[in-house]
Amino acid sequence: MLAELVCFESQCRARYGITEVLYNCPRCGGLLEAGYSGWERDAGALKKLWRERRLNNAPLDQSGVWRYRECIPFLDSYDRVVSLREGNTPLLDAPRAAAYGGLDRLLFKHQGFNPSGSFKDNGMTCGVAQALRLGMTRVACVSTGNTSASMAAYASAAGLQPIIFIPHGNISYGKLAQALEYGARTLQVEANFDQILALVRALAERLGIYLLNSINPFRIEGQKTIMVELMDQRDWNPPDWIVLPGGNLGNTSAFGKALREMLEMGLIPRSPRLAVVQAEGSAPFYDLAHSADQSALRPVTKPETLATAIRIGDPISWPKALHEVRSSGGVVEKVSEQEIADAKAQIGLCGIGCEPASAATLAGIRKLTAAGVIRRGDDVVAVLTGNLLKDPDYIYRYHTGELTAPGGDKIQPTYGNHPLVVPNDPDRIAALLA
Ligand code: F0G
Repeated sequence: MLAELVCFESQCRARYGITEVLYNCPRCGGLLEAGYSGWERDAGALKKLWRERRLNNAPLDQSGVWRYRECIPFLDSYDRVVSLREGNTPLLDAPRAAAYGGLDRLLFKHQGFNPSGSFKDNGMTCGVAQALRLGMTRVACVSTGNTSASMAAYASAAGLQPIIFIPHGNISYGKLAQALEYGARTLQVEANFDQILALVRALAERLGIYLLNSINPFRIEGQKTIMVELMDQRDWNPPDWIVLPGGNLGNTSAFGKALREMLEMGLIPRSPRLAVVQAEGSAPFYDLAHSADQSALRPVTKPETLATAIRIGDPISWPKALHEVRSSGGVVEKVSEQEIADAKAQIGLCGIGCEPASAATLAGIRKLTAAGVIRRGDDVVAVLTGNLLKDPDYIYRYHTGELTAPGGDKIQPTYGNHPLVVPNDPDRIAALLA
């Protein structure tokens, strides 16, 4: 098996060694991806092997990422891999959310069950493994909160120093708290995500720090396994649609690459369509997908949304994501703050719950079924990207009618659940509950 870094630009396709520290193609500036020649071809044998590994206690086999290592064969040794038992996330039936979304049936692939509570862990175990292989001692990222929480956890577990850069005042406390507790050097920069990414890229080069944003191709490799595990859980029957939120578009890139490669390896008979959902105030990819000229993305200079995880105006992976949406026959939708908030409450009422960005999926599904793009009987899986407890402040404010959208509009607590203050008096409480 030969693993290389390959330029994603179709006119370039330059190739570089897998151990070069590169984030963009030195020749044309394009994004890079891991490319392999000599895939394992016996799909049946692989499926059997992956099932058998579930019964093995070895940490590598218990990991929902490394169990599928034949799909991400960029390492030459697994001795130094650090796993926190990432992946292994459930596929949950959600009838109430299905009805809300206009579907007969809806399944959630809940990445919030990961060790640090988001899908970033799937990619981070791979990014950190590559950092160790390259002999790096410090790793860095800019983040809307989840990447930094995940990077802090994995870097500290691996004995590397995590340095995180976050937009000051614009990430949830749950995520910031994780980074502090996991021991990251935390720099709160007075700029937005897109501006800080440019800053961190320059600093990483200057200081020899390894960059672990999703521009890092090894993060994308790890996130591919979300799709591999999903297909394994469905006995390799692909759904019609995979719905996911779009921010920096790393996940869209990873899912599309995974689907293409699984087709090539003969693991699945056909590809699902990707439906990417953005928040209205941070929707440059929606604009791109719906414009006549798709040669360049026009950044949103002041991205806004209460779903802070996807508050990104200049998504770095848009060329890959556009390719994946197109080649899967997919769509891009956008949803309002009110739609996200109400969809989120509905996911909560399923007993499942998620953070705001994840709820963009159900809000998007509701819009896409109403428009007839997704049909009621379609087989749909939505990926919930982050855990409910990532942003408790948002939840409390929604349920108590105190949530305000960035433009100043009040979010209606359509499914609000206001807590009651009661006296210590059994008769009055009994009367209240009668
Ligand atoms: N959902 C959640 C919960 C996220 O944290 C993110 C991204 C996304 C969706 C969007 O995924 O960027 O791959 O399109 N969070 C990043 C971060 C940007 O820094 O944690 P994407």
